[in-house]
Amino acid sequence: MVTYKVMEGIKKYRFGEPISTDAVLFEGDKIKDESLPFFILQYVDTFEIKYKMDNGDQIFGLGENQRGINKRGGVFESYCCDDAFHIPDKKSLYGAHNFLIVNGINKFGVFIDYPGRVVFDVGFTHKDYLEIKIDDKDLDIYIIKGSTLREITNKFLQLIGKSYVPPKWAFGFQQCRWSYKDAKEVEAVAENFIKHDIPCDSIYLDIDYMEDFKDFTISKERFPNLKSFAEKMKNKGFRLIPIIDAGVKIEKGYDIYEEGIDKGYFCIDKDGNPFVAAVWPGKVHFPDFLNKDARKWFGSKYKLLTDLGIEGFWNDMNEPAIFYTDRGLKEAINFVEDSKDQNLNIYSFFKLKDSFMELSNNTKDYKSFYHNMDGKLINHDKVHNLYGYNMTRAAAEGFKEIEANKRFLIFSRASYIGMHRYGGIWTGDNHSWWEHILLNIKMMPSLNMCGFLYSGADTAGFQGDANSQLAIRWTQFSLFTPLFRNHSTMGVRKQEPYAFDIESTQVLRNTIKLRYALLPYIYGEYMKAARRNDVYFAPLLFEYDDRYSKHVENQLLVGESLMIAPIYEENAQGRYVWIPEEMLLWKVKSYNERSFKVMDEGHHFIEVGIDETPIFIRKNKMLIIGNHANNVADIDNSEINIIAFIDDEATYTYYDDDGISYEFNNGIYWEVIIGIKKIDDDYEINIENKGNNLVKRINFDIVDLYGNITKKTVVISE
Ligand code: GLC
Repeated sequence: MVTYKVMEGIKKYRFGEPISTDAVLFEGDKIKDESLPFFILQYVDTFEIKYKMDNGDQIFGLGENQRGINKRGGVFESYCCDDAFHIPDKKSLYGAHNFLIVNGINKFGVFIDYPGRVVFDVGFTHKDYLEIKIDDKDLDIYIIKGSTLREITNKFLQLIGKSYVPPKWAFGFQQCRWSYKDAKEVEAVAENFIKHDIPCDSIYLDIDYMEDFKDFTISKERFPNLKSFAEKMKNKGFRLIPIIDAGVKIEKGYDIYEEGIDKGYFCIDKDGNPFVAAVWPGKVHFPDFLNKDARKWFGSKYKLLTDLGIEGFWNDMNEPAIFYTDRGLKEAINFVEDSKDQNLNIYSFFKLKDSFMELSNNTKDYKSFYHNMDGKLINHDKVHNLYGYNMTRAAAEGFKEIEANKRFLIFSRASYIGMHRYGGIWTGDNHSWWEHILLNIKMMPSLNMCGFLYSGADTAGFQGDANSQLAIRWTQFSLFTPLFRNHSTMGVRKQEPYAFDIESTQVLRNTIKLRYALLPYIYGEYMKAARRNDVYFAPLLFEYDDRYSKHVENQLLVGESLMIAPIYEENAQGRYVWIPEEMLLWKVKSYNERSFKVMDEGHHFIEVGIDETPIFIRKNKMLIIGNHANNVADIDNSEINIIAFIDDEATYTYYDDDGISYEFNNGIYWEVIIGIKKIDDDYEINIENKGNNLVKRINFDIVDLYGNITKKTVVISE
């Protein structure tokens, strides 16, 4: 073991010769130190960590996973997986996020930088032990020390580097469906948004826009002129966001296939031939995204679509998902043949059934292909979790070449720690289940702790039929998630915000308009989190240390001023909320209406009508509200509103920038620093305008602890 001091409070313990994942930005200096906070057991080929948890220890982090914000009691496996049934005992979803924080008398973060399979048994097998099993003996372990959860998180986020920042329009509402199959249908969706006066910034193109599911092709029949269509749609206020899949169809004459073969850019099997698996188009090869030349090549292909006016993409099936391989199919078919005319019993019948179920995403297949990493041949299984990461990195590096100072929208399904620098993620194929709203709520802070700020779930659920109530309640939560997208699979009930009844459309319209009005807050808080290595969503115990806040799993802090308590149960007329200090409750029906209630510290049942989104403004904090428009670019926020809940004084920094370039990295952004101080029965307002030439007028609703409202307006001089 070699120990490095990487940063203040962060040590790296290196075992053997780990494969470089590029998850971490800093190398560190070698030091003499063997002070790991847990036992390690090194076997010939594997590695195990054991930590005895105290009764009160909580375990946070682990990003995209099932179960609670506190992960204690579960077992989780980092091995990116295309599994569309996110039921509670599923161990792996699409991401591999090996960072956790132990919160007890001892507080520390642990990052296992190993890109193959890692199992986190968090008191599942042995209730008092955290046991981490790694399928290898070469790895880096980082230990992050700090006195609070936020401090540990901030340090970890600093270690792995600053978050991806999407364009501001990608904070607008987005509509998807597998698939809006042709230009006519896409246009009809856009017209429906316009007709129903529902804001929306983008419409997605799922796999049917392609010719036979071939990456970087466009169906001539369904989208005869994508360039002019994209332009027409943009003029109506909608960007088109096409999907890109990992597998490249094997087809003579298809240029991407031919080039990949010529240049040797595909993953290979043990005989050195391009590895064959089947996904949407049938047989495909997988680009070797771990080979930097192949990555560059694939990344450059996005230009084929950006040249047509496309400004955003979603990368999919990049675990990589495998439907079947010849090996698997042959074994399954042999098994069927052997079963012919047999009297199948309890064992043989289920074995027969499973032989087909096990065709997809099979570890045997993942073990049977190889990457070329800097000239070294590496078995895929050892680096499985880097695949989606590097596909998205390919895109991001491609965009740099295409137009370095322009922000593109990019997010991925599979991911590993570090990918957050290149793009966001969505949480994959959930269901229109109430349980999945709650899962979405719990997952967001865990993802943020692992660096993934730009994320969100398929709002209203991907699979299964949504009713209007579920679509509304989910939208009322998702309006706070940076990625705010409604998506559903083929064959299920339509769930666009206008797809239900008139009343529900009205509620969804108001809810989505609320999102647009809150953009100054949501975007500003996102940018602050990204620039300060901080989280945007946090569990309550990041800020409150009382005994209840420690365990709240269904309320979140959003940015610095808000707490939310979403409704996630069918037919609920309200819910219980833990309020850790006085807060101002605003049940928003329409963002222009104001009606507040001061809530005292304690447990409360709050009634929440189907048309209400409850927002809690924290004490001595401000919520900034702009205006809506039908897309982000059209919003006029020269006059903004602030709701402030003031005991004595508060300061809030309203952040904004051009929303399209990376100039904020060069110090080009605007800040309005707003100070409010209670003096006797009045308030003194101070505004410091740093480079802001946009806000002309701020209207204040200042509410005190007794619920008295003072209205003020400040006109900002040039
Ligand atoms: C995968 C994706 C889903 C997409 C579908 C078709 O299941 O997760 O979002 O709609 O593929 O491309």
